[in-house]
Amino acid sequence: MRKYIIAGNWKMNMNLSESIALISAIKNSVANEKLNCELVICPPFTNLETASALLKDSNVKLGAQNMYYEENGAFTGEVSAAMLKSVGCKYVILGHSERRTIFGESNQLINKKIKKALSSELLPIFCIGETLEERETGTTFDVVKKQIVEGLSEISETDVLKIVVAYEPVWAIGTGKTASKEQAEEVHLFIRNLLAELYSAEIANEITIQYGGSVKPDNAVELLSQPNIDGALVGGACLKAESFLGIAKAC
Ligand code: 13P
Repeated sequence: MRKYIIAGNWKMNMNLSESIALISAIKNSVANEKLNCELVICPPFTNLETASALLKDSNVKLGAQNMYYEENGAFTGEVSAAMLKSVGCKYVILGHSERRTIFGESNQLINKKIKKALSSELLPIFCIGETLEERETGTTFDVVKKQIVEGLSEISETDVLKIVVAYEPVWAIGTGKTASKEQAEEVHLFIRNLLAELYSAEIANEITIQYGGSVKPDNAVELLSQPNIDGALVGGACLKAESFLGIAKAC
């Protein structure tokens, strides 16, 4: 049975002391809660080691926001999968739209990163989604299909089961404009059917597909109640313990 996963993508926010305060607040609030989801936080690289220590023995898991696919070497500014593992990461966000649009990441590069994450025993949160222009010109399904087919190229059945897919329509990220539950469910169903075509119905049924884009406590219930929406990748609302946990409680 696939599980709900609520992940907080902190993006480039929170210095070390702010991170300690936020992690402590999240950890303490969920310590005695029976959550119906896996809760994940993805702070900036500089705060991962401290986060890992703070989260020891807690039910909150740790993820990173990016990594490079090479093992090590002359790649100034990059961080490897082994480095993320060594500080206690379980997940890594790959192919976020900000990486694609601001830093020019291609489906081929993202595919290499996914393969490296998997072979390093990190679970990829693989982001896909169309821009406003693509939605308005009616190419949403073509764009999402290409991102999935190329991003998952040569990924085995066993490995694809370890991937979390995050559908994040770019026009809904940080804009306060959430996709309606119908708009989101339509694309989630399309993704699930595509995964069934590429792998099998059984495999597609096991894969968690998160929605991301202006998710907040007050729209989480209607989004998460859709049959193919299995969690959320949260930006702005994950920077406050109260709103992040409000979304988790919607599960
Ligand atoms: P917002 O929740 O701020 O729209 O960001 C979504 C996102 O990009 C999560 O990865």
